[in-house]
Amino acid sequence: MPFTRSSLLLAGLAVAALVSAPGQNSAPRSKTPWWQNAVIYQVYPRSFADTNGDGIGDLNGITAHLDYLHDLGIDGVWITPFFQSPQVDFGYDISDYRAIDPQYGTMADFDRLLREAKKRNIRILADFVVNHTSDKHPWFIESRSSRTNSKADWFVWRDPEPGKSAPSNWISIFGGSAWQLDTPRNQFYYHAFYKEQPDLNWRNPAVRNAMYDVMRFWMKRGVAGFRLDAVPHLFEDPQLGDEKVLRPGKTAYGDPILTRTHTDNLPECEDVLKEMRKVTNQFPDGVLVGETYVSGVKELAKLYGANHDELHLPMDTQLGFGTLSANRYRKALLEAETQLNGNTPLFVFNNHDNVRSINRLGNGTHKDALARMLATLMLTPRASALMYYGEELGMENDDPKRKEDVKDIVGIRGWPEDKGRDGERKPMQWNGDTTAGFSTSRTPWLTVAPGYETVNVSIETRDPGSLLNYYKALLRLRKSDPALRDGDFALLNEDDANVLLFVRRAPDGTAALVALNCTPEARSIAVRGLPERSAKVLLSSFAAAGTTLDNGTLQLPPYGAVVARLAR
Ligand code: GLC
Repeated sequence: MPFTRSSLLLAGLAVAALVSAPGQNSAPRSKTPWWQNAVIYQVYPRSFADTNGDGIGDLNGITAHLDYLHDLGIDGVWITPFFQSPQVDFGYDISDYRAIDPQYGTMADFDRLLREAKKRNIRILADFVVNHTSDKHPWFIESRSSRTNSKADWFVWRDPEPGKSAPSNWISIFGGSAWQLDTPRNQFYYHAFYKEQPDLNWRNPAVRNAMYDVMRFWMKRGVAGFRLDAVPHLFEDPQLGDEKVLRPGKTAYGDPILTRTHTDNLPECEDVLKEMRKVTNQFPDGVLVGETYVSGVKELAKLYGANHDELHLPMDTQLGFGTLSANRYRKALLEAETQLNGNTPLFVFNNHDNVRSINRLGNGTHKDALARMLATLMLTPRASALMYYGEELGMENDDPKRKEDVKDIVGIRGWPEDKGRDGERKPMQWNGDTTAGFSTSRTPWLTVAPGYETVNVSIETRDPGSLLNYYKALLRLRKSDPALRDGDFALLNEDDANVLLFVRRAPDGTAALVALNCTPEARSIAVRGLPERSAKVLLSSFAAAGTTLDNGTLQLPPYGAVVARLAR
């Protein structure tokens, strides 16, 4: 059946009306802040590029590859923590928020990175670890020294229960009790993560002010904003109270599986986000991205603030971190369109804490097609997006094979059930040299993943059919095509359990159809609900650009993805 006017004009319009978020299309483009519809590329600096041959990536390595990132077409780079740190949690344990860890370079290197990025119109976002410091941070060293020092109340301290037992049954996310008994205070301190990562006491105004000063310090230097780490964990119930057993069984670390009602996503988090937003607002272009694992869209919506006065871009994990399913994706996209109060969603499929999506999703077949489909799903709706280094190449997880090779401590604790996060943190694959062009060291901090000989920047740049060139084309299209850039969003064929179909329609009438086969089988689908009669391929994982899809029935190969211009 052709794309006929008759088939579903009314339904199409109804859906379009339903999902038109106010304010997003009407604003003139010049007023659109940079982070709306932006693509932010996450660099794990330890694994990106090593310029001094010590086997560990560094800031100069990022600077050296800014042309690559510019050419890829991203708008911002979020760099995971490069601050002074004992590296127990690879930088997420900070001992000085204002100093660069020598492993990663110097402040002069960072300033140069900022300057060079600016020349290429790339914004730099720092990772702000707000929930906890390192136990080697001077604030904690002082705090633990007595019950009366000036920082005594900067962390979360509690007296032992009779018999020296922990004040509550709370469990650390990284295993074991979340309470650590410490001398000379003879008190427990709380740590949501490792015991080397004591939680700051955000109820203390002095802590807040000190942290806001840190924000100003980096923003004055030229950082565009922050990815706020572990936002849900900022506050704990001052009344304590034991958690209940959520379900029988044990975690990979041997702990009972408990609720986290006293420690996660407490309402007070939002007060802090509002204060941080005020700090950020003092700088043009400032942006706050949040690491926000929440249970649903309602909780996510709250984090933008009722008056758009909290996070600019809380990470939307609803789309990217569930099962691969057209129905689920449809629901997540519709919710992002209709239930975020007109705020911009931030879609993400990959980061340094999760198995890479092409290994996590699907049945292990058609991985290249799956990568293209997921890229299209993330980059064609009305949203900002977070990419993770190497995603654009099809880099795969490469989990450790032996416990003795594991670097990420949770992988040692959880072995073999939880192998840790080394697998998704492997060196960036620049070329086919022995260490994939990541380092001149023959012993990089993590070994290079197999497959780098063919999955690498050098080869993929030269191959017009590569995944890398697909990403580039997609990123270009989302900026240049009026429908993908300014269009609204409407779902089509909503009862199809296999294929996700939607249309983006710009105010000038330009329309783009996006069709995504979410299954590893070929599918054919009769498109309903469009007034247009023909569709011409703009970009596709299987058909050449310019191919006409004008018979109304799309034939999609396994995980096939197509973006097409609709015409009457
Ligand atoms: C966040 C980071 C993770 C880190 C944890 C503790 O979840 O993404 O890598 O281990 O916080 O800081």
